[in-house]
Amino acid sequence: MRRLTILLTGAQGQIGFELARLLSPYGEVVATDRTTLDLADPDAIVAAVRGARPALVVNAGAYTAVDRAETEAALAHAVNGRAPGIFAEEAKRIGAVLIHFSTDYVFDGTRKAPYPEDAPTAPLNVYGASKLEGERGIAAAGAHAIVLRTSWVYGLRGRNFLLTIRRLAAERDELAIVADQYGVPNWSRTLAEATARIVGAGLPALAARAGLYHLSCTGQASWHDFAQAIVGAAPRPRIIPISTAEYPTPARRPAYGVLATAHFATTFGIVLPDWREALASCLESTAGTA
Ligand SMILES: NC(=O)c1ccc[n+]([C@@H]2O[C@H](COP(=O)([O-])OP(=O)(O)OC[C@H]3O[C@@H](n4cnc5c(N)ncnc54)[C@H](OP(=O)(O)O)[C@@H]3O)[C@@H](O)[C@H]2O)c1
Repeated sequence: MRRLTILLTGAQGQIGFELARLLSPYGEVVATDRTTLDLADPDAIVAAVRGARPALVVNAGAYTAVDRAETEAALAHAVNGRAPGIFAEEAKRIGAVLIHFSTDYVFDGTRKAPYPEDAPTAPLNVYGASKLEGERGIAAAGAHAIVLRTSWVYGLRGRNFLLTIRRLAAERDELAIVADQYGVPNWSRTLAEATARIVGAGLPALAARAGLYHLSCTGQASWHDFAQAIVGAAPRPRIIPISTAEYPTPARRPAYGVLATAHFATTFGIVLPDWREALASCLESTAGTA
């Protein structure tokens, strides 16, 4: 029997890299990155989907440079805002299922309790606005699409908070880290494993569960908590708590971005571990395999 085709974008990214391996038992993975499929080019997206004729499209590619997006808004909106809707239109045309990732940065962070999927969105920055545009494009296309909002992704490759803290920890005795922004750190592999598990249930089951879901580890952390957990109990470097006001960045960030994950858990029967447990697993794994 011919294996189904899975078109994957962002295959060199944190989540996409993990997915390229984890999705391969379920089909022939056509793994694309920015060199083979430019997500800012609508014609290239259409050609890629029509060429591969996938049964499943997994869009793990994105413009994720949150601060740079403030000055590259057009590019961020092309990649995060318009590309997802084009994938959804093309998926609908050929009866394919689409899996797409979005972010807690669609919210303004003024809540004090975990955000459910239907909480009002109000992005504070260009990146968040571009990702929200992407969600809306998918919804408008009416394809069988699973949109997974997640938060604070890290891993042992790429650019992320974990790797930045590890590098700075080797260089400095003290690190000043923001302690008044709360969210949930998520290891890219944990997210990719959950995504592969829902694919493993079969595409008809996935299509029947199309919708918007929050996918995240449990617990919550400030960036300060996360940094402290990364360096562990070592006396150096000291992790000094500071406020957002003391660490100005080009993009405003939500003060609170914890996502309520009950909808994903009840629909798919999957609950991710506490973020500290996932972090421990990540730190135990070796960079060579991650
Ligand atoms: N990172 C987070 O903290 C976070 C939090 C919440 C949600 N998410 C969402 O989760 C998903 C995966 O994120 P991630 O952390 O795995 O991101 P990532 O590591 O930045 O990976 C995204 C990939 O997309 C690629 N890309 C960027 N522009 C492109 C273009 N024009 N054409 C083709 N490829 C392009 C990037 O290539 P280059 O590296 O060459 O730019 C990168 O390999 C995204 O939808 C993101 O919005 C991420």
